[in-house]
Amino acid sequence: MPAIPASLLLCLMIGCGGGNSTVTPPPPTVTLAQAAAHHNIKVGAAADSPYLSDSNYATILGSEFSQLQAENEMKFSIIHPSAGAYDFSGGDALVTFAQAHSMAVRGHTLVWHNQVPSWVTSGGYTSAQLSTILQDHITTVATHYAGKLYAWDVVNEAFNDDGTMRDTIWYDQPGIGFAGMRTQYIEQVLNWAHAAEPNAKLFYNDYNDETINMKSDAIYAMAQDFKTRGVPLDGIGFQFHVDPSFDNPTILASVTSNFQRFAALGLEIHITELDIRLNNSSTASLNSEAKLYGELATICVQQPSCKLFQTWGFTDKYSWIPSFFPGEGWALLWDANYQKKPAYNSVNKALH
Ligand code: XIL
Repeated sequence: MPAIPASLLLCLMIGCGGGNSTVTPPPPTVTLAQAAAHHNIKVGAAADSPYLSDSNYATILGSEFSQLQAENEMKFSIIHPSAGAYDFSGGDALVTFAQAHSMAVRGHTLVWHNQVPSWVTSGGYTSAQLSTILQDHITTVATHYAGKLYAWDVVNEAFNDDGTMRDTIWYDQPGIGFAGMRTQYIEQVLNWAHAAEPNAKLFYNDYNDETINMKSDAIYAMAQDFKTRGVPLDGIGFQFHVDPSFDNPTILASVTSNFQRFAALGLEIHITELDIRLNNSSTASLNSEAKLYGELATICVQQPSCKLFQTWGFTDKYSWIPSFFPGEGWALLWDANYQKKPAYNSVNKALH
């Protein structure tokens, strides 16, 4: 049998029809939201309202995504800047934008140790007073957005990486009255949120809990206890602020198993704050980023309880990474000039 010329072999492998040979797949023809819709997965981005006046930003956010979440504008210090004074302007602008673009809105976040205003942290309040302050805060904010947000990150980052409780103003410094009682204060605030907005799905959200480890074990134990006793918890948000070292078969298998055990409790799984930070923007780095993005999207698609694939922003023009991880960046799906990166194509394909 005659040897097949190398050029013909290449044609057989990748196709040379019509003289249009290429190894680059055609660009996706549907948006991320469209690609994911038939899996019943929302595709989200964190956003803040000042960026909406940037027309490229608004166009992409409003067309590619089926959900948005406030990156900052629903946090305590912004929405409740002084005692008795609420400022809903930023959050409301996001809701208005989302409604105009048929997007769902997810709230972030009612109880967190960061971005708490100084009137609270420096007020010298007793536990009883802090409890009243927090209940008023949760009730007022959740009521304001009732019917407009389908889900809330009620509590954010309450555990340490070793599974112990984080010492915070809400837990034990001085706390709202449940110091030393581990997850009791979380149960209390979930009940307050549920009373104010019974139709919203309520989430616990954290980072470094994406794999099976001491932190996710502690969150799992809490979730199991809450589900057993009927505490209103609907799902877990997994943040996924990662870098390419996360692209490891053992780690990814652990994510899959971790998702499965939470799903088995009847909880929704939300990927809430995904970004993959790089320390350079070489082609190799962008391709490794794309590969990991695609793998994480596939894990979500393959887990029926995974209902949200959300990135923390969407353009490298506005990302928290460079200021929080000096020397790193390039973490999102569009570059700083609003060009789609390899990661965009990879996610779009994986979500099909
Ligand atoms: C970050 C925002 O992106 C920044 O703009 C802000 O200065 C600090 O907070 N985990 C969370 C988010 O739950 O609320 C954080 O957002 C990023 C880490």
